[in-house]
Amino acid sequence: MDAIEVIRAKRDRGELSTAQIDWVIAAYTRGDVADEQMSALAMAILLNGMNRREIADWTQAMIRSGERMDWSALDRPTADKHSTGGVGDKITLPLAPLVAACGAYVPQLSGRGLGHTGGTLDKLESVPGWRASLSNDEMLDVLRTAGAVVCAAGSGLAPADKKLYALRDVTGTVESIPLIASSIMSKKIAEGTGSLVLDVKVGSGAFMKDVTTARELAETMVALGTDAGVRTVALLTAMDRPLGRAVGNALEVEESVEVLAGGGPEDVVELTVRLAREMLEAAGVSGAKDPAKALQDGSAMDAWRRMIAAQGGDPDAALPRAAETLTVEAPASGVLSRLDAYAVGLAAWRLGAGRARKEDPVSFGAGVTLHAKPGDPVRAGQPLLTLHADETSRFERALEALDGGYAVSDAAADHLPLVIDRVTAG
Ligand code: URA
Repeated sequence: MDAIEVIRAKRDRGELSTAQIDWVIAAYTRGDVADEQMSALAMAILLNGMNRREIADWTQAMIRSGERMDWSALDRPTADKHSTGGVGDKITLPLAPLVAACGAYVPQLSGRGLGHTGGTLDKLESVPGWRASLSNDEMLDVLRTAGAVVCAAGSGLAPADKKLYALRDVTGTVESIPLIASSIMSKKIAEGTGSLVLDVKVGSGAFMKDVTTARELAETMVALGTDAGVRTVALLTAMDRPLGRAVGNALEVEESVEVLAGGGPEDVVELTVRLAREMLEAAGVSGAKDPAKALQDGSAMDAWRRMIAAQGGDPDAALPRAAETLTVEAPASGVLSRLDAYAVGLAAWRLGAGRARKEDPVSFGAGVTLHAKPGDPVRAGQPLLTLHADETSRFERALEALDGGYAVSDAAADHLPLVIDRVTAG
């Protein structure tokens, strides 16, 4: 077989055979298919698509490029959640210990942020001492100690995806449903979880800007997981506005701890509890404690503290704070009718919370605090947002990002419901 033949087949809108897919993924992982050839194939896939059988074969080939983890030594079911990424989406932080407190193990491999959406590992690394890199044995130890572990995927997990994702990032081939679905699901299936809840974000701050494409991505991923023997469901959830009131690494940890202490913003609590119930149901945990109760009785907080400590972190340490702040005031009295997720995410990124290149450091204290949410009444001159940065020179570009990103009107405007839809197999 040769790469040119496979590229031509997809360029000419053909269907790739299982053998062609197996060969091209294995040869690319070995280095026998060059980056420029894989770029051409990725672009042909982006333009011409793949059918469900091709996507399933592509996913399985990426799983086989590396190790598949196995949690069968554990005495309770495993459950995981994956979010397609959003602004202020810190849900994993309260969710993983919450689900552990309610009776399932949560083995979660997470990523770092790139662009305007934050990454779970960057957020957790703002906790002094916390370590993202664990060996498989260490992961098992943390799971046994705390019931939940959140850490970086090792280099042995779906190496084909690691290589391909880096290539897609620089060749304009990220935005393809077959490539996104196979990329996410190859890692989640290889991670070895028994059940998976997908949080597919919809809106300006998400990959998927509209409900139709988000539903197509959700259906594709649910089918891939189900066919691979992982009980998988998806929720489509709102990302037209930021989630919660904190955007930025340490700021989001602080908000997550508030949720674990039984408080926190309504939308973060609602989504955390809903996803926890979905995870426990998908995992088949019978007689599980109700997640809303576990947030109130301290058991989720106990699991959080054990999880952080088991990964070297100090749950009592003060979190980093940015040196400088700037308040943005409401321009008029009325109702905050719009607060755009992308604008706030971009502002937080420019303040230093995110990175432009994979190797860049992030500022743990940088970000944006929201003092009002869409639909809230505001008075002219009241604080609307606080910007946090290590250097005042960052404020100007952040303010540019926010220009036109919020509006105060006489009446509230429509926004997406927090949970838009639920997608199941079949
Ligand atoms: N996240 C992934 O892991 N892969 C994609 O292709 C997109 C988002």
